Amino acid sequence: MNTKYPVDLKFPPRILSGVQPTMDIHLGHYFGALKQHIEFHHEYPGQAFYLIADYHSLTKGIKKDDVRFNNSIIELATMYLALGLDPSKAFLYRQSDIKEIFELTWILNCITPSGELSIAPTYKSTNRDSGIRTSGLLTYPVLMAADILSLKASIIPVGTDQFPYVEIVRDIAKRVNNLLDEEFFPIPAPIIGQNSLVRGIDGKKMSSTNSNHINLFLPFNELKERVNRIVTSSNMPTDPVAISECNVFHLYQMVAPVRPVNKADEMRQKYITGSIGYQDAKRELLFELQDHFSAFEQRYHELKNNPDYIMDILREGFVTVRREARSTLLQLRSLIGIHR
Ligand code: TRP
Repeated sequence: MNTKYPVDLKFPPRILSGVQPTMDIHLGHYFGALKQHIEFHHEYPGQAFYLIADYHSLTKGIKKDDVRFNNSIIELATMYLALGLDPSKAFLYRQSDIKEIFELTWILNCITPSGELSIAPTYKSTNRDSGIRTSGLLTYPVLMAADILSLKASIIPVGTDQFPYVEIVRDIAKRVNNLLDEEFFPIPAPIIGQNSLVRGIDGKKMSSTNSNHINLFLPFNELKERVNRIVTSSNMPTDPVAISECNVFHLYQMVAPVRPVNKADEMRQKYITGSIGYQDAKRELLFELQDHFSAFEQRYHELKNNPDYIMDILREGFVTVRREARSTLLQLRSLIGIHR
């Protein structure tokens, strides 16, 4: 897999990414996505757009007793802000608020060969057991293309699992540009973060569907219980390469401070010299997890008491994004002959 694509410099740099709303926001979300999003918005203030992808969540199918999304949307937005998102530097918005995204999805659907979507690895592997593959799931990457292209975003931080989708988005953007004979859309570059694959307590990709997740801001006893359940091998690894395979160390090196001393390096030494056992390593991980997130957690509880503030932030995102998306859509409509 080629994980390096050049950023399209013909367009002003603009960052865009999305996360599906959930009440279970865990270390995988933070280290795999939110942390990187927050770093990027410092680098490109005013040009970072993060959407809460509620309509992507529907692609799994809609069940009769589906709960409403409202709580999880507020939860995700609250998390972003608690973890350091500065709303004067980034726009946070709800996908379903931006009607233009769905109109653009339709136009992009009509230039995208369905065969190309049906071979996308995630489409092929999803829901094979339950037997339902909705058309929404098939066109999931087209909806992503509309998210990205409606704002002409060129830099897309994603985890490895989303990489093939962004490759499809690139093809869609190229196809539109060829059709119009102009560089209407940037060709967006996926950027894979350092911790794009966070392993859960069983060593598989952390995800709430795998039930191997460690949620952010858990009460101490629950956190302790999760950490104690991290699967370890029968022997403590002492070889530097094997250490990175240890599920305890894997999480430890993400949360351990680097200053004044690099605690992950210290821990690696303890592994190598055999001077630590899994019980102690887990105890240290527990300590660092708490320490790492304590300031964020305090802010989270403050924000939780202020849902009106969160709604205001989402409204601000909505106003800006809607205006930009509308302008892109009107230009494109007129170029393809759907005049108003
Ligand atoms: N599909 C992404 C996920 O499930 C979320 C997402 C929606 C996204 N639109 C996006 C990511 C646009 C990057 C760019 O995680």
